[in-house]
This record gives sequence, C-alpha cells and structure tokens, in this order.
Amino acid sequence: MLDGKRILLIISGGIAAYKSLELIRRLRERGARVRCVLTEGGSQFVTPLSVGALSGEKVYGALWSLTDEAEMGHIQLSRDADLLVVAPASANLLARMAAGMSDDLASTVLLATDKPVLVAPAMNVRMWLHPATVDNMALLRRRGVLSVGPNDGDMACGEYGPGRMAEPHEILAAIESALALPERPLAGRRALVTSGPTHEPIDPVRYIANRSSGKQGHAVAAALAALGASVTLVTGPTAEPDPAGAAVVRIETARQMLDACLAALPADIAVCAAAVADWRVAAEAGQKMKKGAGGPPALALAENPDILRTLSALEPGRRPRLVVGFAAETESVLRHAADKLARKGCDWIVANDVSPAAGTFGGDRNTVHLLRRDGAEDWPPLPKAEVGRRLAAAIAAHLKDA
Ligand code: PMT
Repeated sequence: MLDGKRILLIISGGIAAYKSLELIRRLRERGARVRCVLTEGGSQFVTPLSVGALSGEKVYGALWSLTDEAEMGHIQLSRDADLLVVAPASANLLARMAAGMSDDLASTVLLATDKPVLVAPAMNVRMWLHPATVDNMALLRRRGVLSVGPNDGDMACGEYGPGRMAEPHEILAAIESALALPERPLAGRRALVTSGPTHEPIDPVRYIANRSSGKQGHAVAAALAALGASVTLVTGPTAEPDPAGAAVVRIETARQMLDACLAALPADIAVCAAAVADWRVAAEAGQKMKKGAGGPPALALAENPDILRTLSALEPGRRPRLVVGFAAETESVLRHAADKLARKGCDWIVANDVSPAAGTFGGDRNTVHLLRRDGAEDWPPLPKAEVGRRLAAAIAAHLKDA
C-alpha cells in the first residue's frame, strides 16, 4: 500500500524519537521511501548515523547547509514528498508551526510545503494539557494538519497521562489512511461528533452509566477526518484510542458534554453517536453514601439536557447545516427511530438495534438503517469503521449537493 510513496519524516526533540527509528523501518518494509530531517533537539536523542542507516538516505540536519541547498533546496525537499510526518512533534515545534515560523530547516520545510502534514505529538502531560498547546493544536487542525495520538500512559519524566507518542503501528495506520485519500471532499468543513457513554455521579465513588464503548462514535469521527473535515470529538469515558486527525475533548457527564458541544461550534456537521444518560441523580452526595439501618437509599433522578435536540434547535447560523442523531432501540427499531427523528428535530437519524442479542454495544459490528426525512436505507451488517465511512461519504455527498 505504501509502495513508492515518499515520506518526509521530521524528527524533533523528545525521548520518543527512538520510536521513529522503528517507524522508518516499518515504512521501508512497506515499500515507502523515507527522507528524514533531524532537528537539533532530535539529534540529542537519535543520531544522524542511525537515521541514515535505517532510511538509506541522506539525513538533513537542523541548520542551513549550502551543500544541501545546492543538492536539494528546502522548497524541493518539502514538495518532493507525498506526506510530511512529524514524529515526535515536540511542543516547541508545534508552537512554531502554529506561529508560521521558519527558523530552522524543519519549520521552514513545514511552512513551504503544499503536501498534507501529519503530526504525532509527544511531550510531558502538563505541556500537552497547557492551554497554549491546546490552542496550537486546535489551530493546526483547523488548517488541515492531521494528527495521531498522543496516548495516555507512564511518561519518561515519571508522570502519568496523555503525552506519550503514538506507537509506530498507530502512526503507520494514520500514514496509510492519510495517503489513501483519493480526495478530501470535506476539506474546510467543521464537524462535531459525540461518542461514548456519560457517567452521572451518585456520590464521589459511584455513577450511573451505560454499555457504550465509543467504538461507533470514534469510527464516525475518524471517517469524517479522513475525508478532510476538521473534527472535534466530544467523548465520554472510553478505552478507545483517539481517532487520527480529530481534536478530542473528554467529558464525564451529559451537562459537560453539552457545554463542550456548544463550545465547539460553529460546525457544518454534527453527529451525535454518544449514549447520553437521559437522567442524572438529582442530588449528588458530597461524600460516599453509607449503608444504614434504613435500607438502600432512594435515588431521585433529574432529566439531563438533550444535546441532539439542543443542537437541532439552535438559531440559523449557529445550527450545524446537517445534524445527525443515532437511535438506540431494543424493539420496533424503525418506528421508534422515526419518532425520534421527528421529535428531536435533527435531519437524519441512524437507527441501530441495541438489544443484547445484537451485540451492538461494545461490539465491532453494527447493522444500521439511515433515516432521512424523505426515506430510509437499510445497510447490511458492517464493521463499525465501515459504518463510519459510509456515513461520512453520505454526509459529504449531501453537503456537495446542497
Ligand atoms: O459505543 P458503542 O459501543 O460502539 O455503541 C454504539 C452505540 C450503540 C452507542 C451508537 O451506535 C448509538 O446508537 N448511539 C446513540 C445512543 C443513544 O443514546 O441513543 P438514544 O436513542 O437514547 O438517543 C437518541 C439520540 O439523542 C442520540 O443521538 C443521542 O446521542 C442523543 N441524546 C440522547 C439523550 C440526551 N440526553 N442527549 C442526546 O443528545
């Protein structure tokens, strides 16, 4: 699949640079040609010798070299590739990309390129969560920069959290999907996707939840991003990896999900695939509730805001042009889904059977029906990733025609 593809790999400073050596090896195994730019920081972690030996190519350094410019100018270096990959992408390099700086070879090449760019951020958890980095990433994604990771985990600095560079196989998958794009019909469009369950606290240690794994919503987000949309994924707690190319906002409760969705607007497309709890506990206990002689406590419930309905009812200009809901039903799937389409005011609804026998919650496959206002389509049983791709393609076709 990567036969003959030309990758320009920029290795910036970070302990994760050692994984880039493995990435080079895997890319070459798949037939890709890999040229590397090693920043000054990157060369503190891996040597030009090892990068050159694995890539089989000359390694371009941090500083200007008249010889390099004579052999291959920086403009040509940036254009003579099908894809630019920055792995690891340090907080510093991301900030310089966002600011449009060109003060070393890596940033100059990134500024001069007309090719897609994929970044694999890697940094300390606090640096990743710092508002400056969050803003820089959001800006880069709006400009169409693709991203993969970072993952959660133990960090070399002893802390735990998001910041570990994605693994070489994950970066490889993101490269393959970036290169597989024949066209990007949703380039320039903004999409909001909700995914996963919500957790509604009962007390500091207990919560009400449901069986959603986030697989379907994350697949929709990945598919929209693969077609070029700038995607914000608002997700409840899941074990799913972040989809390549999406900005991920993690929440726990329905009310937090609503706030995050409204903050992500404006958007052209909204897809609500999250299994949002309809109810929360009316009065969350401040301390862990104790067993007592009076028997189990009665839990009074309060209704949560309906995010799909709220997005559908926004005033023109704020309302996404296409609002798509999902309907999770355990019986009379089509009838209940049609009711929801009418009641919630969305444009389309994707109906699926979530009765235990169907295995939809948490499973890898789904059988859905796409209900539009003018009719319904029955899709065959498909992997959730394929449901995501078909839905994204239908959305792209709709927006093209509209
Ligand atoms: O996560 P997986 O394990 O992959 O499973 C996928 C899925 C079954 C969760 C997914 O395909 C799905 O059906 N998602 C919608 C789940 C759901 O809450 O359906 P619902 O019929 O209760 O709600 C209808 C719609 O209203 C949904 O778009 C839902 O996101 C939205 N909603 C519901 C309640 C609420 N308070 N706010 C909402 O926005």
